[in-house]
Amino acid sequence: MSGTLPPGELNSYDSILKLISQMTLEEKVAMCHGATLFMSSGVERLGIPPLKMSDGPHGVREELYPDDWHWEFRPLGLANDASTCFPCLCALAATWNPNLAEEYGAALGQESRARAKDLHLVPGINIARSPLCGRNFEYMGEDPYLASKMCVPYIHGVQNQGVGAGIKHFAVNNQEFNRFHVDVIVDERTLREIYLPAFKAAVQEGKAYSVIGAYNKFRGQYCCHNEHLLNDILKGEWQFDGIVISDWDGVHDTQEAANYGLDIEMGTTKPFHEYYLAKPYLEAIQSGKIDENTVDDKVRRILRTMFKNGMFEKERKKGSFNTPKHQKAALKVAQQSIVLLKNSDGILPLDARKLRAIAVIGDNADRYHAHGGGSSMVKALYEVTPLAGLKKRFDGKLLINYAQGYSAQPKMADQLLQEAVDAAANADVAIVFGGLNHDVEAEGFDRMDMKLPFGQDELIARVLQANPKTVIVLTAGSPVDMTYWNDKASAVILSWYGGMESGTAISDVLFGDVNPSGKLPVTFPKRLEDSPAHSIGDYPGPDVVTYKEGIFVGYRYFDSMNIDPMFCFGHGLSYSAFEYGELKIERESTAREENVVVRFSIRNTGELEGAETAQVYIRDVESSLVRPFKELKAFKKVFIKPNEKKTVTISLDKSSLSYYDPDKKGWIAEKGVFEVLVGSSSRDIRIFGSFEV
Ligand code: BGC
Repeated sequence: MSGTLPPGELNSYDSILKLISQMTLEEKVAMCHGATLFMSSGVERLGIPPLKMSDGPHGVREELYPDDWHWEFRPLGLANDASTCFPCLCALAATWNPNLAEEYGAALGQESRARAKDLHLVPGINIARSPLCGRNFEYMGEDPYLASKMCVPYIHGVQNQGVGAGIKHFAVNNQEFNRFHVDVIVDERTLREIYLPAFKAAVQEGKAYSVIGAYNKFRGQYCCHNEHLLNDILKGEWQFDGIVISDWDGVHDTQEAANYGLDIEMGTTKPFHEYYLAKPYLEAIQSGKIDENTVDDKVRRILRTMFKNGMFEKERKKGSFNTPKHQKAALKVAQQSIVLLKNSDGILPLDARKLRAIAVIGDNADRYHAHGGGSSMVKALYEVTPLAGLKKRFDGKLLINYAQGYSAQPKMADQLLQEAVDAAANADVAIVFGGLNHDVEAEGFDRMDMKLPFGQDELIARVLQANPKTVIVLTAGSPVDMTYWNDKASAVILSWYGGMESGTAISDVLFGDVNPSGKLPVTFPKRLEDSPAHSIGDYPGPDVVTYKEGIFVGYRYFDSMNIDPMFCFGHGLSYSAFEYGELKIERESTAREENVVVRFSIRNTGELEGAETAQVYIRDVESSLVRPFKELKAFKKVFIKPNEKKTVTISLDKSSLSYYDPDKKGWIAEKGVFEVLVGSSSRDIRIFGSFEV
């Protein structure tokens, strides 16, 4: 199947055809590759602007030298490019709140436009296959449905501001180890059910203007010019009419790039005219080795996207930058993303009136995270650390003793540990801020294991011994091993990388101004060996990785194999309690198809206003192909006052019942009984029923 768009579809853009007919071959080819690190060429004499791009998902990246060949991404050091830093994307996924995703995207899009960008390289929607992947924090978790539902409004938010979204990295880019060359082998069903749905939703529902290819290979061919992924699926089946852009230096062959669906080659490490889609492409067309139609198609796509993006309009949207509204959006996302993992003795929320002194322990209490992690780094206008958040909150009215507790330098370990233990022993409450940071979790490498680094296990255990009233707050973008101390800790919070307002949000949750409502978008296994990529799949290669676990990714595996995780997918506690009831499952016919309507009520039986994310899982009781025990097919976050009851109505269509049949090359909803499992997490199912198709 060819990915080439029929020129007839372009009637509404007559001007595109006219423009192309006026362009020289050199001008067309120039539009198909980088002219600076983050810009491809326009054609000035015809009024075609260049296409200006920027990273990344959590904010607008600082301005860099436009032509540094050495993979250094050197900052220009400007005084006016510090921006709003939002929580990382797995934190956004943990809010389970699509409205917030749109607000986040809109604020980011406005900032991007205010910095005169045309295309923002967001969002990252690769599935968290392994807890070790260095970029998990940039993605939206392990579940294709959740990622789909969160990325679509995010993309709408960005694109409504006159900035295109560039979804990435297409596809099966699930590890950083050997990321430039690893060959991923995954069967067609797994590809369709697990690794592609978020991309499909981003293209078909989100209407994303561009798709960024992945570095790795897929079935032996590099993703940035992969015939099956780009021509057959993306441009063929899904009818994607936007631009495919390579990841930076992800191109390896001119013929393939020209013919297999790439439109713009971007990179870093060599002069721009040497790119595969630059001089070699021009010469191959001139000598007749490559058809000139290929470049016409690419230019048509670029121009069409420019039109849609308002780039030919006289008055483009202007955007806005570092506004209080954007900072508030960053705070809101951080507040709703925080996951209360454990609160067994009801230590939380803390009551400041009963406290005289608190010990704040741990390197993450006072560490900045925004300016790290790789291409998603943000030069934040400011960043409130947890320590700063607590100090601001109490303004000297509570004694706060800070002890660093651990450090990357092993030399000082004993002394730091002792100081922390002493601080904990002399406080009413100790709060340990630990977890990971971007020195150990970032783009370009995977972690070696799930262990907490820098001797933190020992530190946490010793602090818990010194003061049982200890709260553990973990910053991380991936699961970490908590087995060493989890039994002894009664309160554990996960704050992710929470952006510039992270410290404010954490102190709001600790002291009960905000009732936590985040839910895990990934399973936290007890041990690395429990997770499917490591127990039955290949990881990390080096050269070839076969996803032998197939569709059994994340909770699909833990549930089906009956393995207890440390914290399950969808888990997250509240300071309130919620009671589920009154489940009704009914059939409803629309003109097009028959839907199943699921209705139930949730009552807040606690004393605080709070939010609950009800999760609806479907279990196909009998199926021709093996299916996971259950799969998430709907969710709804509801905000409920104490003693208030709300009714949730969810409509399930055929897609909620279907699996991908590789022989029939399509989605099949078989007849039979389906169970509906409604709960507060994947393992805390409160009500259930069934229906028959
Ligand atoms: C990353 C992309 C990023 C690009 C440009 C690559 O190394 O994989 O996510 O957008 O660099 O910075």
